[in-house]
Amino acid sequence: MSFSSPLLVFWISLVLLCQGSQAQLSSTYYDSTCSNVSAIVSNVIQQAQQSDTRIVASLTRLFFHDCFVNGCDGSVLLDNSYSIASEKDALPNNNSLRGFDVVDNIKSAVEDICPGVVSCADILALAAERSVYLAGGPSWEVLLGRRDGTTANPVGATNNLPSPFDDYSTLQSKFSALGLDNTNLATLSGAHTFGRAQCKVFFSRLYNFSGSGYSDPSLSSSYLAYLKQSCPQNGDMTVLNNLDTTTADTFDNSYYTNLQNNEGLLQSDQTLLSASEASIASTVNSYATYQNMFFANFAQSMINMGNIDPLTGTDGEIRTNCRRVNGS
Ligand code: HEM
Repeated sequence: MSFSSPLLVFWISLVLLCQGSQAQLSSTYYDSTCSNVSAIVSNVIQQAQQSDTRIVASLTRLFFHDCFVNGCDGSVLLDNSYSIASEKDALPNNNSLRGFDVVDNIKSAVEDICPGVVSCADILALAAERSVYLAGGPSWEVLLGRRDGTTANPVGATNNLPSPFDDYSTLQSKFSALGLDNTNLATLSGAHTFGRAQCKVFFSRLYNFSGSGYSDPSLSSSYLAYLKQSCPQNGDMTVLNNLDTTTADTFDNSYYTNLQNNEGLLQSDQTLLSASEASIASTVNSYATYQNMFFANFAQSMINMGNIDPLTGTDGEIRTNCRRVNGS
């Protein structure tokens, strides 16, 4: 039997289409295998939130630190082992990232209901969405179907993650290297509407900005005085400060009004408004006025970030324990 050429083209197209769609994430991915997964994630987070209001911020950040290193593959969750050098020890993460115990609790609650089905990478995506929502922010349809990586990349964590001391063009290039544009940068930075930062990540702005011996001129004088009290010279560098000085634990647009008032905590925050690029300043100003616009764009930007290099199909695995590669 011989295929006529139109039939051959049809079969080849079908195969290519199936391969393509395998790599696609989908909001209905667990509908038939673990339909309650989002509710389970939500319950565990609400439980944790009762004793730790900050947890929602910490879980949102975990997803960011996962996606920026080897894509959204749960690599940030892997502990050190004979085969893994953990990303948790990398400079941006060490003594800073938190929420791993809550991810463990989510994973075991999910495994109880649907064993071996839901990846740790997808748990991070779902936890970030529920966290934003539970703090008063937008909700969105989370795209799912990621699988878990079997390697970690501590060097990537050190190099790819943005630093609070980065200037605008460095931030821009770290985002664009992952397919995220300037609007994504300005929008995702709005996650600093909740959570905390240690004195050490903005200390130089208070006392010795860019080696000048002076404070950062882009800090309002009242905010500067307030921060100096919280972070005195020779004080404890690990003291925590609210990233959003007006509504610390609420996901809203006050991050952007803070920037307008020269009250962005990190240099990388305030630089969005002082950036030479007018379009970014105008995005900041629009978000400060229109919270709905910020919320809609934040949801879309989180989806974009969640699309960074996922493992799909038969790549990677579904980890049983988020801290360990299966069989290790
Ligand atoms: C634009 C570049 C960014 C830089 C330079 C940056 C840097 C930082 C730093 C230095 C901290 C404080 C860490 C500490 O003191 O231990 C922090 C906290 C945080 N970041 Fe970012 N970040 C950036 C973007 C993002 C993005 C895209 C998200 C999420 C979408 C995010 C979410 C958070 C949250 C929620 C916290 C508070 C976490 C907590 O309280 O546990 N950040 N960030």
